[in-house]
Amino acid sequence: MVADYSEWRARDYFQTYYSEVVLPDEQAVLAYQIDVLRAARARFGRGLEYGCGPTLHRAIAASKYAFRIDMADWLADNLAEAREWLCADEANPEWKRFTKYVLSCEGSARADLDNVLRREALTRKVVRGLYVSDARLKQPLGPTRDHFYDLIITGFCIDAISSDPAMFRRCLRNVTSMLQPGGTFIIHALHQCQAYKCGDRMFPGSNLTIDDMHEAMMEVGFAPSTIDAQVISCPDNRVYGYTGILTASGRKALKQRRS
Ligand SMILES: C[S@@+](CC[C@H](N)C(=O)[O-])C[C@H]1O[C@@H](n2cnc3c(N)ncnc32)[C@H](O)[C@@H]1O
Repeated sequence: MVADYSEWRARDYFQTYYSEVVLPDEQAVLAYQIDVLRAARARFGRGLEYGCGPTLHRAIAASKYAFRIDMADWLADNLAEAREWLCADEANPEWKRFTKYVLSCEGSARADLDNVLRREALTRKVVRGLYVSDARLKQPLGPTRDHFYDLIITGFCIDAISSDPAMFRRCLRNVTSMLQPGGTFIIHALHQCQAYKCGDRMFPGSNLTIDDMHEAMMEVGFAPSTIDAQVISCPDNRVYGYTGILTASGRKALKQRRS
């Protein structure tokens, strides 16, 4: 039985995926995110992390590359967890393992405590709005956010809303409607997963293949030559309901094609 998000427990999610180590699949997607952000060469003006859940590691990774980052999720409890970290003092240990890993991806020879504290302080400065949002709505953050962001990052959210692949495509269109033409998009999703584990419950997966991801990104207006999609194998994660991760990126076409 697949659970509904009314049964979601932010703490269960943190405990399942983020409380002990930086899992190998998470290492791969964070490294990918940093590669894409670095390749842009200029700092983004307005970033959005969509479907952040109770996590901070994607915002920590992005904070060096954007002047401002907003975070959004459907569940206020998740945002409350994120807010708690953002308002905490530098001693808060929760995401330090991830911050260290991010610094090592950037080739920082010294991922020592000073550097970790500096990066986390930057994240606390750069993250601005925390918004409750539903990706099933045409304008998930309202009309003022149409074509507003030049960077959107979303990890394991849009494919986790429903087990219907059509819903994935609809939500992808809705979320990316907030991206400016030319803006950069980074998405991580579970590969061929129908349900993933959180605590003792299973939540939905859209069962996506790499072709589904590629086609959906084409369909919502990413410039074909900019789309990159990869599958990262993680056989040890079978216990969580999946054995692979999809990671993809692209830039929105400057001129939208007529559909
Ligand atoms: C698997 S978690 C991903 C959390 C985090 N981004 C990460 O990488 O660990 C899926 C997230 O999708 C959010 N979500 C579920 N339905 C949603 C909806 N309709 N609109 C926006 N977010 C939704 C959940 O609240 C949850 O935080």
